[in-house]
Amino acid sequence: MTKPILECNGIAAGYVKGLNILQGVDVVVNEGEIVSIIGPNGAGKSTLLKAIMSLIKVSAGRFFVNGEEKTNLSTHRIVMEGIGYVPQVANVFPSLTIDENLEIGSWSIKRDKKEALTKIYNDFPMLGDRKKDKAGNLSGGQRQILALARALITSPTLLLLDEPSAGLSPVAINEVFTSIKEINNSGVSILLVEQNAKRALSFSDRGYVLDQGRNAYQGKGEELLNDPRVIDLYLGKL
Ligand SMILES: Nc1ncnc2c1ncn2[C@@H]1O[C@H](COP(=O)(O)OP(=O)(O)O)[C@@H](O)[C@H]1O
Ligand SMILES: [Mg+2]
Repeated sequence: MTKPILECNGIAAGYVKGLNILQGVDVVVNEGEIVSIIGPNGAGKSTLLKAIMSLIKVSAGRFFVNGEEKTNLSTHRIVMEGIGYVPQVANVFPSLTIDENLEIGSWSIKRDKKEALTKIYNDFPMLGDRKKDKAGNLSGGQRQILALARALITSPTLLLLDEPSAGLSPVAINEVFTSIKEINNSGVSILLVEQNAKRALSFSDRGYVLDQGRNAYQGKGEELLNDPRVIDLYLGKL
């Protein structure tokens, strides 16, 4: 039985009142899935993640987390509902240490903060080795791992990832995708926005193509990868 962990129905949202970037987007993530969202620059991929995190207001449509409506709750409440988020830019504080970055990530945990930190250092030994080092001294790939770890500290059941592989070397991209897979194997569902569309689709259970704030195509990752319309319009040029 598939159980939707996140269900977005007809989401409209934007940055200026009366001017929607998203024009009614539907996206579902089922328990245990890796789902990717691909599409051209400016399609509204990041905007959708921001709308789910209540960083911008949803002006029409609704979304549900584990079957309960959570549209336009506070960001804090969304995090408490088990949603973690790694934004596209500025996802770590370079001038703070790794320890401090993780500490900030644990702001919403009331109890067992120490335990949560210990678990993160266990799961990501590279971070444990460099606790006192400034995040700005990490490589691009290591910074993305820190950003993932920071989002995991609240024990989310769903992680929203906005272009975690952007700007990384091929080796670092592999490391980040491996980490995402391990996180998923540990029981966390993943909604992944990626420019690296072929890689993302081959890695995902299902995918959605967004274009100009609307759903264009959706299907199993493999199906989209082999769909001539998707290849023609979206994969050729990405
Ligand atoms: N902070 C913002 N204020 C106003 N418009 C924005 C802002 N962020 C993004 N946009 C606009 O929203 C549209 C979708 O952007 P975005 O969701 O970032 O696209 P994607 O992530 O798919 O590349 C673009 O036209 C972009 O210019
Ligand atoms: Mg984006």
